[in-house]
Amino acid sequence: MLTRRYVLAAPVADLPHPNHFRLETVELPAPGEGEILVRNEYISVDPGMRGRLSGVVTYAPPLGIGEVIEAATVGEVLVSRHPKFAVGDHVVAGFGWQEHALSNGRGVRRIPDDRLPRSLWIGILGIPGLTAYFGMLEIGRPQAGETVLVTSAAGPVGATAGQLARRAGCRVVGVAGGRKKCTWLGELGFDAVVDYKAAPDLGVAIAALCKDGVDVLFDNVGNAMIDRVLPIMRPFGRIVVSGQIADYNVPPEARVGITNTIAFIGQRLTMRGFVAFDYAKEFPRAWADLGAAVLAGELQYREDIEDGFEHLPEAFIGLFAGANFGRKLIRTA
Ligand SMILES: NC(=O)c1ccc[n+]([C@@H]2O[C@H](COP(=O)([O-])OP(=O)(O)OC[C@H]3O[C@@H](n4cnc5c(N)ncnc54)[C@H](OP(=O)(O)O)[C@@H]3O)[C@@H](O)[C@H]2O)c1
Repeated sequence: MLTRRYVLAAPVADLPHPNHFRLETVELPAPGEGEILVRNEYISVDPGMRGRLSGVVTYAPPLGIGEVIEAATVGEVLVSRHPKFAVGDHVVAGFGWQEHALSNGRGVRRIPDDRLPRSLWIGILGIPGLTAYFGMLEIGRPQAGETVLVTSAAGPVGATAGQLARRAGCRVVGVAGGRKKCTWLGELGFDAVVDYKAAPDLGVAIAALCKDGVDVLFDNVGNAMIDRVLPIMRPFGRIVVSGQIADYNVPPEARVGITNTIAFIGQRLTMRGFVAFDYAKEFPRAWADLGAAVLAGELQYREDIEDGFEHLPEAFIGLFAGANFGRKLIRTA
């Protein structure tokens, strides 16, 4: 059968552009013994993928030219010659930006719980939710009464991280772009929100909402953001380095650094980065906890689902301008 896929056409040096991606139509052979053919129904659009498009090694090897863009997927098994999968099964996998995939089943999971929308398994129950869960609870370790600041707070990682800190009894302040996103964070229970696009001086605006300082900074944005918050970190504060979206498109030589490092000594601070997969063995515990909280209506989420496989590149580029409002997914026709 014929299927379409997006591959990397050229390494990305700064801002991604549609020409960095090439749409190909390829022929898939019929599944062999032990293989399945899957039609991808939902395909994720992830800011973290940006690091793999530059041709340099970051925490993951770079994608080569001509390789399919990586992404999480939810799909339906169309043909199965695999003992563990049946036709019609819905599966979570990492098949990337392609309409169909042939697989030997490695890394493919049947969707375990029909009570939740399937797309959530690559959203709040997928890597974004797991990043929030382990980053906030294991590294941030929020304690009741503390102040937690979350940046890119209206994204799937940030919104989940903030709600988990609220659940732990913290006062939670978010930073997001635009009134709509800030209003939504208020509805989720964030105690205060800064619209960084409207604040004349973001450091001053954050400090005004965190009068007693910040115990946990859960940062998705990058160096300039961390540098702004360092002077108001409280003793023994924790900085969770989750992502650096403001820095991803800036070549290393042009990036701003972190200068307010004296705060690490005076305030005995800890700053730690992590990759969600570090906690892979503990994912089942998080799925149970997050899934139960979603079902009980105690944890809210927002999805931004767009129809049309061919919209993948624009959807990805849009992340860097804040065009998404919630977990960005493409639904194939
Ligand atoms: N460590 C890990 O294992 C791991 C795993 C997954 C994701 N992550 C990271 O977690 C972060 C959040 O991911 P997500 O999936 O939830 O996506 P997300 O927060 O929805 O990312 C897109 C959002 O980033 C904000 N943004 C874009 N450019 C910005 C800039 N220059 N300054 C400030 N904000 C900017 C925009 O929101 P506004 O409209 O509010 O500006 C945009 O909607 C990303 O940095 C990602 O790389 C880390």
